Amino acid sequence: MNLIVNGREHEITSPPLTPLLHVLREELEITSPKAGCQQGGCGTCTVLVDGEPRRSCLTAIATVDGASITTLEGLGEAESLSPVQAAFHELYAAQCGFCTPGMVVASTALLERVGGPVSREDVLEALGGHYCRCTGYVKIVDAVMAASRGEVGEVRDMPSPEDGEPDVTIKGSPA
Ligand code: FES
Ligand code: FES
Repeated sequence: MNLIVNGREHEITSPPLTPLLHVLREELEITSPKAGCQQGGCGTCTVLVDGEPRRSCLTAIATVDGASITTLEGLGEAESLSPVQAAFHELYAAQCGFCTPGMVVASTALLERVGGPVSREDVLEALGGHYCRCTGYVKIVDAVMAASRGEVGEVRDMPSPEDGEPDVTIKGSPA
């Protein structure tokens, strides 16, 4: 079987009923789709299959043979975030980030489908079934609406991937 993931073609060796989520994470080492509930209920594993949002935890790879898959990694780079990624960054729409890949991917599909400003109801419908345990939804919805209106410009203060993790020492923390 073959998959085109973020524009690159891959021959897949996992068995045909393996969930796409596991193929992406374990075989291809593309880790933005997160393994949350793994039952179709939380949305954090969402990727685009031929442009449509799909729960990768419930998608056997045999059903998407030859398809074009887009994950968060395929939407932008640290140096050039996509409009939705930039809006999430600028409007503080992520906290722990576990739900963020699915939120951003599904929101990107919404914006591409509508092709202009989206309403709060549009966003709530597109992100129905995407669960966030820490940021809350107000900032997430605001970010998607701002991105749809083109209100967020280029983000220039992202750290380079070569910078590594910052040194953070919290007094009393075991870390
Ligand atoms: S991990 Fe797929 S919907 Fe929760
Ligand atoms: S940012 Fe933590 S679950 Fe959404």
